Amino acid sequence: MTTVFESLFISSFGRSPQHRVFAPGRVNIIGEHTDYNDGFVLPFATSQGIWFLASPNSKSTISIIAANTTERVDIDLKQPDAEQKPGWFKFVQQILKIYSSVNILGFDLVFGGNLPVGAGISSSSALTCGMIAIIDQLHDMNRSTTELVQMAVTAERGYGVQGGIMDQFTIFNGRKNQAILLDCQDNSFEYIDLKLADYSFYLINTQVKHNLIDTDYNQRHNECIEATHWIHDHYKPITTLRSLVSDDLSALQPIMDEVLYKRVSYVVEENERVLLAKQALNKADLHTLGALLYASHEGLSKKYEVSCPELDWLVAYSSTNPTFVGSRMMGGGFGGCTLNLLKGSLHAADEAALIQQYYHTFGMKPDIIPVSPASGIIETCSKI
Ligand code: GLA
Repeated sequence: MTTVFESLFISSFGRSPQHRVFAPGRVNIIGEHTDYNDGFVLPFATSQGIWFLASPNSKSTISIIAANTTERVDIDLKQPDAEQKPGWFKFVQQILKIYSSVNILGFDLVFGGNLPVGAGISSSSALTCGMIAIIDQLHDMNRSTTELVQMAVTAERGYGVQGGIMDQFTIFNGRKNQAILLDCQDNSFEYIDLKLADYSFYLINTQVKHNLIDTDYNQRHNECIEATHWIHDHYKPITTLRSLVSDDLSALQPIMDEVLYKRVSYVVEENERVLLAKQALNKADLHTLGALLYASHEGLSKKYEVSCPELDWLVAYSSTNPTFVGSRMMGGGFGGCTLNLLKGSLHAADEAALIQQYYHTFGMKPDIIPVSPASGIIETCSKI
């Protein structure tokens, strides 16, 4: 795929690119809405992603071409407010803000790839992380991975979504055939081998697109903060929901506001599910993992209330087909994809039936995308 982008670079800028970064998408096996509660997550980087090709241009201009849409923006570094503003430009603006204390030199850049946008597999984080990594490379800054991840998190919070660290951490640190068990309290992590044998992961895209800023994502985050304060004042002095275990729930249920209790019980149970999922993967017990995925969806839909009818429909539909051993909504929610664990691969007849019945119900054609764990930016970036 990079050759297409390389040709576009050469035809647009009259020379070859000198730097290349690949930023993958993020699949999360389990541990949803736990990252900003200092909890556990179990994601992996995908082989689908965004490629970035760049070279310095000895000018005081940054020229960026989005290969998928052929939009071009030329940013004068002395006045970094471009006249043309495609949707992705807001991400570039935040990144330039993050780099505002250093002397950025002019460069030409082409980016493009095969990540569906607004599908909950972190296309915006891939764009942000890849852009930050290639700017670091272009200027020989050699920042540590921890710094780059943190810069990407800060840039993304600048767009207004009060997200956690899971996506950016995975996009930088992903490894082939491994998932990452990340403890978001101190960002300690371990790689978990995915011994999938004849099992496989598929995403099914509802085609309900979302930008988390337009959803209740921030509201859920705020509810968790409010619940933490309440529990601190009325039950025990915690500073994060991560400090609670399921034994606390029976004490909290009768005394807490009903909605806040639902949010808290989901987070506590999801953290416990992530640790059980790790054990299941270590034992190559994919059936237990599948059951945990279904339980996670139930919590996300009924207690955390971040699902939507299309996601619920796909999960319910999958539970009627024995090839599916687990299914749940993935990412921030309110649309996007389900993550599905299948024994073997999806038979053509089953795929056709699913597409047909989903279309009949919602008038949209879902995309079915096989995914497997691949390398993140750190393993793949190279100077050409
Ligand atoms: C989005 C955010 C992540 C995480 C997930 C939900 O992808 O960017 O930080 O909170 O939602 O698990």
